[in-house]
Amino acid sequence: MTESVLNIRALQRRFGSAHDVQVLADLNLDLAAGERVAVMGASGSGKTTLLHLAAGMDTPDAGEVLIGGRSLSGLVEPERTRFRARYIGLIFQDFNLIDSLTVRENIELPLWLNGLTAESARIESLAEELGITALLQRLPEKLSGGEKQRVAIARALVHRPALLLADEPTGSLDQTTAEGVLRLFDRVTRQHNVTLLMVTHNDEAAALCDRILHLRHGRLSES
Ligand SMILES: Nc1ncnc2c1ncn2[C@@H]1O[C@H](COP(=O)(O)OP(=O)(O)OP(=O)(O)O)[C@@H](O)[C@H]1O
Ligand SMILES: [Mg+2]
Repeated sequence: MTESVLNIRALQRRFGSAHDVQVLADLNLDLAAGERVAVMGASGSGKTTLLHLAAGMDTPDAGEVLIGGRSLSGLVEPERTRFRARYIGLIFQDFNLIDSLTVRENIELPLWLNGLTAESARIESLAEELGITALLQRLPEKLSGGEKQRVAIARALVHRPALLLADEPTGSLDQTTAEGVLRLFDRVTRQHNVTLLMVTHNDEAAALCDRILHLRHGRLSES
């Protein structure tokens, strides 16, 4: 039997002052180890909301998220943060880089959080693949959107997570850089049996995946 990496059960999330805007309604999703799934959907359909819940950064109104068979709601802080830091690599839609840290330190963050020593060779080879070697000593503030995105991708992969959650990872990249990032995703996910849940509007990114799901009316469907 294939190991299950992500299970989402009857997930619901509402927003609004009266808690009356239902963004996710009874959403279910199961991802096996090494499986790659693209999520597509209109702006505002709840894609980022879904990734934040899958990463345990937001709490559902109902339902649950299991990572590697463990329910996130069953974990209390700081255990939950530690668990997430070990299993998940997350590429945020707005990058979330820390401006007071250099690019290199940003990439090293998941290693510090996991009590791992920063392997220079690992950081340098990721930086090389993403074309950001010359940026390692810089602060993120003055980088272009595409450069920030590539730093965020390096940070998400540095600790070899089992589950990679990516929110429009090629969104602000030019065609050539986007193709490079997709080749990197393809190689990393295959070599290390990484499970990928990727929000994308890009057909080439979706084509890399085993399944394409559509988020509509708070639920996922195959078409
Ligand atoms: N913290 C919040 N408080 C209130 N409303 C929110 C919150 N987070 C998201 N929403 C609302 O939930 C809906 C879904 O937002 P979400 O960011 O998940 O959409 P999305 O599918 O990622 O859109 P996009 O493609 O534009 O990134 C939107 O209407 C948004 O305004
Ligand atoms: Mg979004």
